[in-house]
Amino acid sequence: MSRDAFQRSLFLPSGGLVWHARALRFRSGWKDYMLALANWLQSWQHDRKDLLLLGPSAGWCLDPRWLTPYRTLVAVDLDPLAPVLFRLRHGLEMHKHQVRMQWHAIDALENLEMLLHRHPSHAVLFCNLLGQHIVHSKSVERTMTVLGRLKHQLRGRAWASFHDCLSRPWTRAESWPSAFVLEGNHGSLDIAERAGVSGTWEEHLTTDVFPAGVRKHYFPWLITSSRMHIIEAGAVGG
Ligand SMILES: C[S@@+](CC[C@H](N)C(=O)[O-])C[C@H]1O[C@@H](n2cnc3c(N)ncnc32)[C@H](O)[C@@H]1O
Repeated sequence: MSRDAFQRSLFLPSGGLVWHARALRFRSGWKDYMLALANWLQSWQHDRKDLLLLGPSAGWCLDPRWLTPYRTLVAVDLDPLAPVLFRLRHGLEMHKHQVRMQWHAIDALENLEMLLHRHPSHAVLFCNLLGQHIVHSKSVERTMTVLGRLKHQLRGRAWASFHDCLSRPWTRAESWPSAFVLEGNHGSLDIAERAGVSGTWEEHLTTDVFPAGVRKHYFPWLITSSRMHIIEAGAVGG
């Protein structure tokens, strides 16, 4: 990687130094979110021994124990700091359980076909990356195309994703959004209404990610002291 490309990748809109600083500063307030995420991940049942982990960053939000049953993890993240920080956070548990790991600093969505071809028996987990696509691409059309085709590219795989669905500024005086489960297709207005919080939400264009019939879990994440996200999580195949 050239020096310029390296420096650019440290300041990605959804990763890099800003994300790590944010995680270190606010993570103590993420306990409820991390617990909801850990419970949902535990409920993802499939028979694969290997996992493609797309956009895991340092795994700040992932429960180290959840990773240990895997034989190999193939992690893909644009952030050049991710492997070192991931090792700091998860290395001990992974070493204890002899989980092998390899990293690729490439675009996981642009290279998805190649990754699936090279790793035909791996389950796939998108780690809070799909809702960031609009931030990177700045094109609604492009984002809808890339996210809308995933379910076809991943046909026949055990795959899952948790991602930003809605977000908006937040004050402590407001009521806390509900966690809930939905089946079938629901637009963002519907989802905001189920969360029980009014106001103008920013959409992350993820409502067409999963095939019809997938059970989707929604839970709140106060990512900073003044910004609330509603996370959508779903799993396909098993
Ligand atoms: C919000 S962070 C994920 C946080 C992660 N779940 C955790 O527990 O720390 C999103 C990550 O996805 C990565 N990312 C975003 N778009 C990507 C893409 N198209 N290909 C590979 N990595 C990507 C970013 O570099 C960043 O590390």
